[in-house]
Amino acid sequence: MLENISAAQAGTVSLGDLTVNRIGLGTNRITNTPDAHNLLKRALELGINFIDTAHFYGESEEGIGNAIAPYGNGLVVATKGGVNDASPQQLRRELEESLKRLKTDRIDLYQLHRVDANIPLEVTMQALKSFQDEGLIRHIGLSEVTVEQLQQAMQVAPIVSVQNEYNVVNRKHEALVDFCTEHQIVFIPWFPLGGLFGDTAKVEQQVANIARKLDVSNQQVALKWLLQRSPIILPIPGTLSPAHLEDNLRAATLELSDEDYAALTTSI
Ligand SMILES: NC(=O)c1ccc[n+]([C@@H]2O[C@H](COP(=O)([O-])OP(=O)(O)OC[C@H]3O[C@@H](n4cnc5c(N)ncnc54)[C@H](OP(=O)(O)O)[C@@H]3O)[C@@H](O)[C@H]2O)c1
Repeated sequence: MLENISAAQAGTVSLGDLTVNRIGLGTNRITNTPDAHNLLKRALELGINFIDTAHFYGESEEGIGNAIAPYGNGLVVATKGGVNDASPQQLRRELEESLKRLKTDRIDLYQLHRVDANIPLEVTMQALKSFQDEGLIRHIGLSEVTVEQLQQAMQVAPIVSVQNEYNVVNRKHEALVDFCTEHQIVFIPWFPLGGLFGDTAKVEQQVANIARKLDVSNQQVALKWLLQRSPIILPIPGTLSPAHLEDNLRAATLELSDEDYAALTTSI
């Protein structure tokens, strides 16, 4: 029987008024090459309709723009700006470039890549809000923030997503995941596969044991753990490999027992 692999099998999550399937694609290593274009097209064929990029990611935005613009069928391309300088002027420069590279006149989800220690968050947020009011961006997200920074940003404009490092191996943002769950803010864990390099850490051994028992990859177990951790989690595994793309989507149909989920959760 033909295997049905689709991101739709992971269920959906809502970013403001946009609904996407709950496994997306991270593209920080995507280039503007035929292989990268084919991978992006394959991701869409497999039902992925959330793609994460950033102004900072080299050729990624250009590759996406050339491969798959114009974006239809509910596809959300999220980008980020302000990784090194989140002043209103720099953010506007980066946003204008991102719009050109992505070949669109509006970004569905625009994420502040980093809070700038030299610029009050309120000033940065006002800039993002003005981009929204001008219709250049649809929704605002944040990246690498604390619960306090998120609360501060929420005073200025609605925040639909937060993207912080989080995975089965690294749980330093548990309180933020809980806050986002409570407030229906989508949590996009970056480094979702957690650098599962087969280290001897207890949690990695646990992932490997469960993967062996279920006859699946370690990566599928790591992704399924994230999907089970909270219904607002939207993992964006990054890959350049069509085989890994399919492997990651198989996490959507993987059955992880309560016992295995608990063993992973407590093994850190
Ligand atoms: N907000 C931020 O500050 C921030 C920072 C970093 C990343 N990000 C975003 O988060 C996305 C994901 O993070 P990430 O790419 O750093 O980490 P990741 O998705 O956890 O891991 C990517 C690595 O895992 C490998 N891989 C993927 N699927 C695999 C599979 N099924 N089996 C074996 N290996 C597999 C990839 O290599 P192959 O190409 O060989 O598959 C790559 O080396 C990025 O693409 C980017 O969009 C955001």
